[in-house]
This record gives sequence, structure tokens and C-alpha cells, in this order.
Amino acid sequence: MPTVVRMVQFTTKTLTDAGRAVGRLIKSIEGQERLDAVAQPLSGLVQKLIPAGPVRDLLHGVPIGHPAHPFLVQFPLGAWMSANVLDLLPGGWVPATALIGAGTAAAAPAAAAGAVDFAAAHPEQQRVGVVHWASNTVAVALYGASFLARLGGKRTAGKRLALAGLVVASVGGYLGGHLAYRQAMGANHTESVPHLAPEGWHDLGLLSELPERQLRQRLVGNVPVLLYRDGERVLALADACSHLSGPLHEGELNDEPGLGPCVTCPWHGSTFALEDGAVVHGPATAPQPQFRARVSGGRVEVALA
Ligand code: FES
Repeated sequence: MPTVVRMVQFTTKTLTDAGRAVGRLIKSIEGQERLDAVAQPLSGLVQKLIPAGPVRDLLHGVPIGHPAHPFLVQFPLGAWMSANVLDLLPGGWVPATALIGAGTAAAAPAAAAGAVDFAAAHPEQQRVGVVHWASNTVAVALYGASFLARLGGKRTAGKRLALAGLVVASVGGYLGGHLAYRQAMGANHTESVPHLAPEGWHDLGLLSELPERQLRQRLVGNVPVLLYRDGERVLALADACSHLSGPLHEGELNDEPGLGPCVTCPWHGSTFALEDGAVVHGPATAPQPQFRARVSGGRVEVALA
């Protein structure tokens, strides 16, 4: 067998074994209810410090339609890692010091964005989130200490602290990946709706059985659909919230100026315009999939928009 194939097999097996061991470790973190004693007060503190409103929406990433945290962490991580490389090169000391200072400053908005996302997460996500948060706080402290050591002319200490920061930030980054890709925190939980809902128009019953200005749930195939009736007009959205699949039909109706009737999710307060599914307030950043609705022969019919 060629050497390269053996090397690939060895690497794959080593990574698989390591991945399984790390996976078991993180799974045990998800189930550690003792972490709730830290996560819940932290979540309450974040909600108090950054109340619902435009600042929290901005930190969630509502205006850009994606969570802001993964975008913002590029700045500190990029600066820090570049500094770690520059530390190995002749003449890299000054730019490395500048990058570590800039990266440490850039960690503040990234942390604020992560904090508001954390405060609107499931308990299992928050338990991993606490460890992710702790790792990143230590990383910031290490890079911050490195910056101060560099300003004091302590080159060896500055480089060692930055290297330690890189190791700890990598652990935090791995946990961030687990939160995003395994626990689907920040993902759009309605992406599958257009693939699951059967095509064409679907009969959802008599209009007269749909109460006016109330929220009701019906099924299109296996896909729950949220219905809202105003006279002869019916509005329809996917019922599972794009944030973490909360049941919108159990939410609250409200009127937002200029947007008409809106629904607020009962789980974490995301608000969507019923007219088109647009996100009015986070933590959701992805709009609700919309269904076209019509009344034919006194019956309500919907189809994917
Ligand atoms: S599930 Fe979190 S806001 Fe709807």
C-alpha cells in the first residue's frame, strides 16, 4: 500500500478516535445541570444589561440577517493568530504587539454579541456556552497580559502568554463550532420548510372555522403552518420559529407601527411580521418562510410562496 494512503488512513483513524473522545466530553458538558447555577444568573445579567431593543437586535445580527457573533470573532482571532505567526519571524515584534492590542480591543463587541445569543439559548446550549465563554475570557486575559508584558519590554513573557492565549482560544473556538454546527445555535431552523412542504395548494378547512385576529396552527403535510385571519384575508407563515423552532401559534399578537400584525414567539421573544415573515426583533435573524393563502368556495387554501 502506498505510503501516502497509509498516512491518510492513520490520520483519519487518529482524528476519528480523538473526535469521539472530545464528542463524549462535550456531550457530558451538555448534560451537566450544575452548570445551570452559572448559566442562568449570567443569562439574567445579560438580559438586564442589554435589554430588548435596537442594541440587542444589532448584536444578534437582525439587520444583516445572520448572527453577528461569528462575523465579529474574526477580528480578534485573525489579529491574534497573525500576531502569533509574526512572533516567529524576525522583525515581527512591533506589528505583533499592535495586532495583539487591536485583537484584544476587538474582543469586546464579539463577546457582547455572543452574550446576547447565549441569553436566548436552550439550557444544553447554555451549558456548553458557559465553558465556551470561560475559555474565551481566559484567552482574552492571556492576550491582554501579553500586550501589557510587551509594553513593558518583556519579550519572552509576551510571546509565551500569546502562545498560551492561542491554545485556549482554540479550545473556545472548538466549542463555538460545536454550538453552531452540532447544537444548531444561530442556524436557521426553518431552512427545511420549502423542502418538506408538499407543492401545490392545500385545503386547510373552512374560513368560518378560523377565528378572526387569532393565531391558529394547521398542517401542510407534516409542516406546521401558522394562520391569521382578518376578514376575508388570511396570512400564513411556517409555525416553527426560525430561531429555535418555538411554536409561533402559542405566541402573542401585536401591532408594530408600519408593519401591521406581528407575532412574538413564546420562547425567546423573536417577533415576525405576519405579512411577509420579516424579522422585526431577534434573537431570530432568519425570516419565517411564507405561504400564499387564498379563500376558495369558503375554504382556506395555502401554497408555499
Ligand atoms: S424559538 Fe427562540 S425566539 Fe422563537
